[in-house]
Amino acid sequence: MSGNVTVVDHPLVQHKLTLMRQKETPSALFRQLLREITLLLTYEITRDMPLTTAHIETMLEPMEAPVLAGPNPAVISILRAGNGMLDGALEVLPQARVGFVGLYRDEETLKPVKYYFKVPNRLDERLVIMVDPMLATGNSSVAAVDMLKEAGARQIRFLCLLAAPEGVDTMYKAHPDVEIVTASIDRQLNDKGYILPGLGDAGDRIFGTL
Ligand code: URA
Repeated sequence: MSGNVTVVDHPLVQHKLTLMRQKETPSALFRQLLREITLLLTYEITRDMPLTTAHIETMLEPMEAPVLAGPNPAVISILRAGNGMLDGALEVLPQARVGFVGLYRDEETLKPVKYYFKVPNRLDERLVIMVDPMLATGNSSVAAVDMLKEAGARQIRFLCLLAAPEGVDTMYKAHPDVEIVTASIDRQLNDKGYILPGLGDAGDRIFGTL
């Protein structure tokens, strides 16, 4: 496998991920854990955001204090499971702009087709954080990155909960500049495109549509 990927092996992330993998974990807890892990992964993915300084008055004296530079980042949710990661990302980045990408798979061509696309303006100036819990084959993630680049995005990072080696490879071949941050790279995909050992269908588990 080759890829531009960081696995966040923090013990809290790994413990919460194990709870999410368990099949008896109910939707409410699954959603809460996804929000918490996303918050921790967002902290990691924003580690090198540029800073500038602002002049402020503390209670005791004035100072030049660090503040985030540049336009606010954009968080882009890949529908529908990406919505399960939005709250966690926005808790860390309350100032972020939010966009949505909806894709479905054409049954004949097997290619991803866009059905919804609404993203913030000035995408070229923003750090763009794409969120989707599962990087499986990578086909729809690559298509989403294609669309975001077409819309002007130049600095795209992909936050996912779990990745398959196949998906990491596919993304790297298509978009080597896109850094992936994930809680785990699992063993493989099965013949239906599910990640093994994985956690099942993330969308179904988030929204209780099992
Ligand atoms: N999407 C999911 O929700 N789960 C998988 O295992 C693969 C893709």
